[in-house]
Amino acid sequence: MKIVMLGAPGAGKGTQAKMIAAKYEIPHISTGDIFRSNIKNGTELGKKAKEYMDQGLLVPDELTVDLVIDRLGQEDCQKGYILDGFPRTIPQAEALDAALTKRGEKMDFAVNVDVPDENIVNRMSGRRACAKCGATYHIVYNPSSKGDICDVCGDTLILRDDDKPETVQKRLGVYHDQTQPLIEYYSSQGILKTVDGTQDMNDVFAAINSILGE
Ligand code: AP5
Repeated sequence: MKIVMLGAPGAGKGTQAKMIAAKYEIPHISTGDIFRSNIKNGTELGKKAKEYMDQGLLVPDELTVDLVIDRLGQEDCQKGYILDGFPRTIPQAEALDAALTKRGEKMDFAVNVDVPDENIVNRMSGRRACAKCGATYHIVYNPSSKGDICDVCGDTLILRDDDKPETVQKRLGVYHDQTQPLIEYYSSQGILKTVDGTQDMNDVFAAINSILGE
């Protein structure tokens, strides 16, 4: 099963993608996580990506597209995958479709997690992330049982650099300009499914599961 997750920054794409990946035993491929891991490891890609991410801007397509297309060719993607944060522009979506067509494949579902802008800033300021293992928490809606320590790996949880309110506002603007048009793109392919992302995260997961089981 091949799934694209759509939605504004902080809509809960990553939270849901991790749960779906575990249930369907497919890899969760998050471009944001790939960039953050490169930043942490001080790679050339990480240095370039950080310049854009810290400003709430998208990393240029030329640094992003080949990276993902190569990843999808790896052995663990044979059974499918869930893409989180990619595609994020129409050119990225077209490049993905071209690569899939070349392999005789197609995307099965584009799941849009719909959350209005007014809920987003609150969610982002409460998010805490583990820089070591990538686990995500929320101080109110999904806290770690150990306060600011990651339940999964024991590392210290952090507020992401790009989760400051002014950067979140910028990211929301970029989302509406460059990523939201993908809703129409996948709708016209007949694979768009929208879920109400303002529900409790387990209810969002149940809604997505009923779509994937159709
Ligand atoms: P990325 O890491 O992809 O960030 P994003 O899309 O902005 O999404 P987020 O990770 O911020 O949010 P999410 O929707 O996954 O929400 P989450 O589940 O964490 O990208 C970061 C940057 O990298 C981009 O700005 C860009 O610069 C660059 N980049 C990445 N991909 C790129 C690409 N393809 N092209 C170019 N540039 C790219 O949830 C948020 C919070 O809410 C958490 O605290 C969570 O616990 C909580 N929460 C989740 N669900 C619920 C719920 N139902 N109720 C209450 N709280 C909830």
